[in-house]
Amino acid sequence: MGKIEIIQHPLIQHKLTILRDKNTSCKDFREIIGEIAMLMTYEATRDLPLVDTKVETPIGTATTKKLAGKKMAIVPILRAGIGMVDGVLKMIPSARVGHIGLYRDPETLEPVEYYCKLPQDISERDVLLVDPMCATGGSAVDAITQIKKREPKSIKFMCVIAAPEGIDALSKAHPDVDIFCAAMDEKLNENGYIVPGLGDAGDRIFGTK
Ligand code: PRP
Ligand code: URA
Repeated sequence: MGKIEIIQHPLIQHKLTILRDKNTSCKDFREIIGEIAMLMTYEATRDLPLVDTKVETPIGTATTKKLAGKKMAIVPILRAGIGMVDGVLKMIPSARVGHIGLYRDPETLEPVEYYCKLPQDISERDVLLVDPMCATGGSAVDAITQIKKREPKSIKFMCVIAAPEGIDALSKAHPDVDIFCAAMDEKLNENGYIVPGLGDAGDRIFGTK
Protein backbone atom coordinates (compact mmCIF):
# COMPACT_ATOMS: atom_id res chain seq x y z
CA MET A 1 0.00 0.00 0.00
CA GLY A 2 1.32 3.48 -0.90
CA LYS A 3 1.79 6.15 1.71
CA ILE A 4 -1.06 8.62 2.39
CA GLU A 5 0.32 11.74 4.06
CA ILE A 6 -1.59 14.80 5.18
CA ILE A 7 1.06 17.50 5.43
CA GLN A 8 0.37 19.49 8.59
CA HIS A 9 3.12 22.11 8.23
CA PRO A 10 1.86 25.37 9.81
CA LEU A 11 2.80 27.51 6.80
CA ILE A 12 0.83 25.20 4.48
CA GLN A 13 -2.17 25.12 6.80
CA HIS A 14 -2.17 28.92 7.13
CA LYS A 15 -1.98 29.42 3.37
CA LEU A 16 -4.72 26.83 2.83
CA THR A 17 -7.06 28.89 5.00
CA ILE A 18 -6.51 31.84 2.65
CA LEU A 19 -7.15 29.63 -0.40
CA ARG A 20 -10.44 28.37 1.01
CA ASP A 21 -11.72 31.91 1.70
CA LYS A 22 -14.29 32.84 -0.96
CA ASN A 23 -13.14 36.47 -0.72
CA THR A 24 -9.55 35.68 -1.77
CA SER A 25 -8.82 37.36 -5.11
CA CYS A 26 -7.83 35.44 -8.24
CA LYS A 27 -4.34 37.02 -8.06
CA ASP A 28 -3.80 35.98 -4.45
CA PHE A 29 -5.27 32.51 -5.06
CA ARG A 30 -2.81 31.93 -7.91
CA GLU A 31 0.15 33.12 -5.86
CA ILE A 32 -0.75 31.10 -2.79
CA ILE A 33 -1.45 27.85 -4.59
CA GLY A 34 2.06 28.14 -6.05
CA GLU A 35 3.52 28.71 -2.57
CA ILE A 36 1.64 25.70 -1.18
CA ALA A 37 2.87 23.54 -4.05
CA MET A 38 6.44 24.64 -3.33
CA LEU A 39 6.18 23.81 0.36
CA MET A 40 4.45 20.48 -0.32
CA THR A 41 7.22 19.52 -2.75
CA TYR A 42 9.73 19.95 0.05
CA GLU A 43 7.81 17.36 2.10
CA ALA A 44 7.00 15.01 -0.79
CA THR A 45 10.68 14.73 -1.80
CA ARG A 46 12.01 13.86 1.66
CA ASP A 47 12.90 10.33 0.57
CA LEU A 48 15.01 11.25 -2.49
CA PRO A 49 18.26 9.31 -2.16
CA LEU A 50 21.59 11.10 -1.73
CA VAL A 51 25.15 10.05 -2.57
CA ASP A 52 28.39 11.23 -1.03
CA THR A 53 30.43 13.72 -3.02
CA LYS A 54 33.31 16.13 -2.48
CA VAL A 55 33.48 19.81 -3.33
CA GLU A 56 36.25 22.38 -3.08
CA THR A 57 35.23 25.33 -0.93
CA PRO A 58 37.39 28.50 -0.85
CA ILE A 59 38.96 27.05 2.32
CA GLY A 60 39.25 23.29 1.79
CA THR A 61 37.57 20.08 0.69
CA ALA A 62 34.06 19.34 1.99
CA THR A 63 32.74 15.78 2.03
CA THR A 64 29.12 16.39 1.29
CA LYS A 65 25.95 15.06 -0.42
CA LYS A 66 24.12 15.42 -3.71
CA LEU A 67 20.97 13.89 -5.19
CA ALA A 68 21.64 10.38 -6.46
CA GLY A 69 21.25 11.31 -10.12
CA LYS A 70 17.49 10.89 -9.94
CA LYS A 71 15.55 12.67 -12.64
CA MET A 72 12.02 13.88 -12.08
CA ALA A 73 9.03 14.74 -14.25
CA ILE A 74 6.18 16.94 -13.05
CA VAL A 75 2.80 16.23 -14.61
CA PRO A 76 -0.07 18.65 -13.92
CA ILE A 77 -3.63 17.59 -14.66
CA LEU A 78 -5.09 20.42 -16.76
CA ARG A 79 -6.34 22.89 -16.06
CA ALA A 80 -5.98 23.43 -12.35
CA GLY A 81 -2.75 21.44 -11.95
CA ILE A 82 -0.97 24.16 -13.97
CA GLY A 83 -1.35 26.43 -10.94
CA MET A 84 1.03 24.17 -9.00
CA VAL A 85 3.79 23.74 -11.60
CA ASP A 86 5.85 26.88 -10.98
CA GLY A 87 5.92 26.21 -7.25
CA VAL A 88 7.20 22.67 -7.80
CA LEU A 89 9.79 23.91 -10.32
CA LYS A 90 11.15 26.39 -7.75
CA MET A 91 12.20 23.32 -5.72
CA ILE A 92 13.16 21.04 -8.65
CA PRO A 93 14.23 23.45 -11.40
CA SER A 94 15.62 20.81 -13.78
CA ALA A 95 12.49 18.64 -13.78
CA ARG A 96 10.77 17.99 -17.10
CA VAL A 97 7.07 18.84 -17.39
CA GLY A 98 4.37 16.71 -19.03
CA HIS A 99 0.68 17.60 -19.35
CA ILE A 100 -2.49 15.55 -19.10
CA GLY A 101 -5.75 17.27 -20.06
CA LEU A 102 -8.86 15.93 -18.34
CA TYR A 103 -12.17 17.43 -17.41
CA ARG A 104 -15.00 15.91 -15.41
CA ASP A 105 -18.22 15.38 -17.29
CA PRO A 106 -20.63 17.47 -15.16
CA GLU A 107 -23.37 14.82 -15.44
CA THR A 108 -21.48 11.56 -14.93
CA LEU A 109 -18.46 13.06 -13.06
CA GLU A 110 -16.35 10.68 -15.19
CA PRO A 111 -13.02 12.10 -16.47
CA VAL A 112 -12.82 12.89 -20.19
CA GLU A 113 -9.27 12.96 -21.59
CA TYR A 114 -8.43 15.55 -24.23
CA TYR A 115 -4.63 15.89 -24.12
CA CYS A 116 -1.58 13.88 -23.13
CA LYS A 117 2.01 14.95 -23.77
CA LEU A 118 4.65 13.39 -21.54
CA PRO A 119 8.47 13.65 -21.58
CA GLN A 120 9.97 11.14 -24.02
CA ASP A 121 12.33 9.70 -21.41
CA ILE A 122 9.65 9.37 -18.72
CA SER A 123 10.61 5.71 -18.20
CA GLU A 124 13.87 6.99 -16.61
CA ARG A 125 12.06 9.45 -14.36
CA ASP A 126 10.17 9.64 -11.08
CA VAL A 127 6.84 11.35 -11.71
CA LEU A 128 5.14 13.89 -9.46
CA LEU A 129 1.51 14.20 -10.61
CA VAL A 130 -0.15 17.41 -9.38
CA ASP A 131 -3.76 18.61 -9.16
CA PRO A 132 -5.16 20.84 -6.41
CA MET A 133 -8.32 18.74 -5.97
CA CYS A 134 -8.99 15.03 -5.55
CA ALA A 135 -12.78 14.72 -5.35
CA THR A 136 -14.14 11.39 -6.68
CA GLY A 137 -10.53 10.54 -7.55
CA GLY A 138 -11.56 9.75 -11.15
CA SER A 139 -9.19 12.30 -12.74
CA ALA A 140 -6.15 11.19 -10.73
CA VAL A 141 -6.92 7.48 -11.28
CA ASP A 142 -7.22 8.05 -15.02
CA ALA A 143 -4.09 10.24 -15.24
CA ILE A 144 -2.03 7.64 -13.35
CA THR A 145 -3.32 4.88 -15.67
CA GLN A 146 -2.14 6.96 -18.65
CA ILE A 147 1.27 7.63 -17.10
CA LYS A 148 1.79 3.98 -16.11
CA LYS A 149 1.50 2.94 -19.77
CA ARG A 150 4.84 4.73 -20.26
CA GLU A 151 6.45 2.83 -17.33
CA PRO A 152 8.03 5.61 -15.22
CA LYS A 153 10.31 4.65 -12.31
CA SER A 154 7.71 5.73 -9.74
CA ILE A 155 4.65 7.97 -9.36
CA LYS A 156 3.65 10.24 -6.46
CA PHE A 157 0.41 12.22 -6.42
CA MET A 158 0.26 15.63 -4.76
CA CYS A 159 -3.03 17.46 -4.25
CA VAL A 160 -4.05 20.28 -1.94
CA ILE A 161 -7.51 19.10 -0.80
CA ALA A 162 -8.78 15.54 -0.99
CA ALA A 163 -12.14 13.97 -0.23
CA PRO A 164 -12.18 10.60 1.57
CA GLU A 165 -14.01 9.11 -1.45
CA GLY A 166 -11.20 10.20 -3.79
CA ILE A 167 -8.38 8.89 -1.61
CA ASP A 168 -10.22 5.61 -1.22
CA ALA A 169 -10.72 5.20 -5.00
CA LEU A 170 -7.14 6.23 -5.74
CA SER A 171 -5.47 3.97 -3.22
CA LYS A 172 -7.60 1.01 -4.39
CA ALA A 173 -6.87 1.61 -8.10
CA HIS A 174 -3.16 2.43 -7.65
CA PRO A 175 -1.95 1.07 -4.31
CA ASP A 176 1.69 1.61 -5.35
CA VAL A 177 1.30 5.43 -5.57
CA ASP A 178 2.20 7.63 -2.58
CA ILE A 179 -0.38 10.36 -1.96
CA PHE A 180 0.34 13.76 -0.38
CA CYS A 181 -2.35 16.31 0.47
CA ALA A 182 -2.69 19.33 2.75
CA ALA A 183 -6.21 18.47 3.95
CA MET A 184 -8.70 15.63 3.90
CA ASP A 185 -12.14 17.24 3.92
CA GLU A 186 -15.49 15.89 5.04
CA LYS A 187 -17.31 14.66 1.93
CA LEU A 188 -18.54 15.36 -1.59
CA ASN A 189 -21.78 17.21 -2.27
CA GLU A 190 -24.41 16.09 -4.81
CA ASN A 191 -22.46 17.83 -7.62
CA GLY A 192 -19.21 16.07 -6.75
CA TYR A 193 -17.64 19.16 -5.13
CA ILE A 194 -15.54 18.80 -2.01
CA VAL A 195 -17.24 20.08 1.18
CA PRO A 196 -16.09 22.53 2.49
CA GLY A 197 -13.25 22.51 -0.09
CA LEU A 198 -12.42 25.74 -1.88
CA GLY A 199 -14.85 25.69 -4.81
CA ASP A 200 -13.76 25.09 -8.40
CA ALA A 201 -9.97 25.25 -8.39
CA GLY A 202 -9.64 25.86 -12.14
CA ASP A 203 -12.11 28.73 -12.10
CA ARG A 204 -10.43 30.31 -9.08
CA ILE A 205 -6.92 30.08 -10.61
CA PHE A 206 -7.90 31.30 -14.06
CA GLY A 207 -10.75 33.63 -13.08
CA THR A 208 -13.19 31.94 -15.44
CA LYS A 209 -16.24 32.36 -13.21
C1 PRP B 1 -11.14 19.49 -11.27
C2 PRP B 1 -9.83 19.30 -10.54
C3 PRP B 1 -9.52 17.86 -10.78
C4 PRP B 1 -10.88 17.22 -10.83
C5 PRP B 1 -11.11 16.49 -9.54
O1 PRP B 1 -10.94 19.64 -12.63
O2 PRP B 1 -8.82 20.18 -10.97
O3 PRP B 1 -8.82 17.62 -11.99
O4 PRP B 1 -11.83 18.27 -10.97
O5 PRP B 1 -12.30 15.80 -9.57
P1 PRP B 1 -12.37 14.21 -9.51
O6 PRP B 1 -11.45 13.77 -8.43
O7 PRP B 1 -13.82 13.94 -9.20
O8 PRP B 1 -11.99 13.68 -10.86
P2 PRP B 1 -12.18 19.89 -13.64
O9 PRP B 1 -12.71 18.58 -14.11
O10 PRP B 1 -13.14 20.83 -13.00
O11 PRP B 1 -11.50 20.50 -14.90
P3 PRP B 1 -10.76 21.92 -15.07
O12 PRP B 1 -9.49 21.87 -14.24
O13 PRP B 1 -10.50 21.94 -16.53
O14 PRP B 1 -11.69 23.00 -14.60
N1 URA C 1 -13.00 20.01 -8.70
C1 URA C 1 -12.84 21.22 -8.10
O1 URA C 1 -12.23 22.12 -8.68
N2 URA C 1 -13.36 21.39 -6.89
C2 URA C 1 -14.01 20.41 -6.24
O2 URA C 1 -14.47 20.63 -5.09
C3 URA C 1 -14.17 19.17 -6.88
C4 URA C 1 -13.64 18.99 -8.11
